[in-house]
Amino acid sequence: MRIGVFDSGYGGLTILKALRKELSEYDFLYLGDNARAPYGTRSFDVVYEYTLQAVKCLMERGCDLIVLACNTASAKALRSIQQNDLPIIGSDKRVLGVVRPTVEVIDQYTKSRKVGILATEGTVASRSYSIEIGKLAPDIEVYEQACPMWVPLIENNEWSDVGADYFIKKYTSELMMRCSDIDIVVLGCTHYPIIKKKIENALPKGVKVLEQGEIVAKSLKDYLMRHKNIEERCSKNGKIEFLTTESEEKFRKAALNFVGMEINPIKINL
Ligand code: DGL
Repeated sequence: MRIGVFDSGYGGLTILKALRKELSEYDFLYLGDNARAPYGTRSFDVVYEYTLQAVKCLMERGCDLIVLACNTASAKALRSIQQNDLPIIGSDKRVLGVVRPTVEVIDQYTKSRKVGILATEGTVASRSYSIEIGKLAPDIEVYEQACPMWVPLIENNEWSDVGADYFIKKYTSELMMRCSDIDIVVLGCTHYPIIKKKIENALPKGVKVLEQGEIVAKSLKDYLMRHKNIEERCSKNGKIEFLTTESEEKFRKAALNFVGMEINPIKINL
């Protein structure tokens, strides 16, 4: 059994990279739905439908444990899949997301108890971060900021251009204008670690920027330790395979550009 990792496109590679580092002996199967990305502006129903298709595709290929690396999918589809679909698909199967593990560590980082979340429009509209933080640490004030231009800039490889700086400044300033006491800013989208340095530079000094890769990897490691029945079923050859719904060549180039991975993806239809 391989561990499935799903993202709407390339962004989840930032999570996979951290998973590979933390859990190097495990086998992973990554699926990027590049043909239908971005998910960030899509409705709940569509994100749910697409994510469920991806989950079923990974399960058909032997992944009984799947991580939704995509924040938008975690925010909009995870709960429905866990509650409505998994009981029908199979009680031995698990789907995990990235919002909850992130929220679980926020408490230990913020002193001011004011936290900023930078994410896609879809994730912000779902209010998943506010809701989940509200459950674990109700005294924390959460400011969610949609950054709709960032994913297109990154996907089109325009992020290093000065034009991109305008949009980085725009959203970070909008966030800090709403509350100048924010001391932690969460990168609540898989793509954003690629522009982390620029985001850090645009924010006031002393504001810590939190990316999810390591957090999700540590959380998955902990999950596997606590669920021995699942851990024992995982194959451990240190292998990773990649599936994409778009061009193999485009995916190959993006993986090299984004996270320095040399890979040979296979194109599939969902
Ligand atoms: N992977 C998505 C996320 O983390 C960003 C890209 C998209 O909008 O599809 O929210």
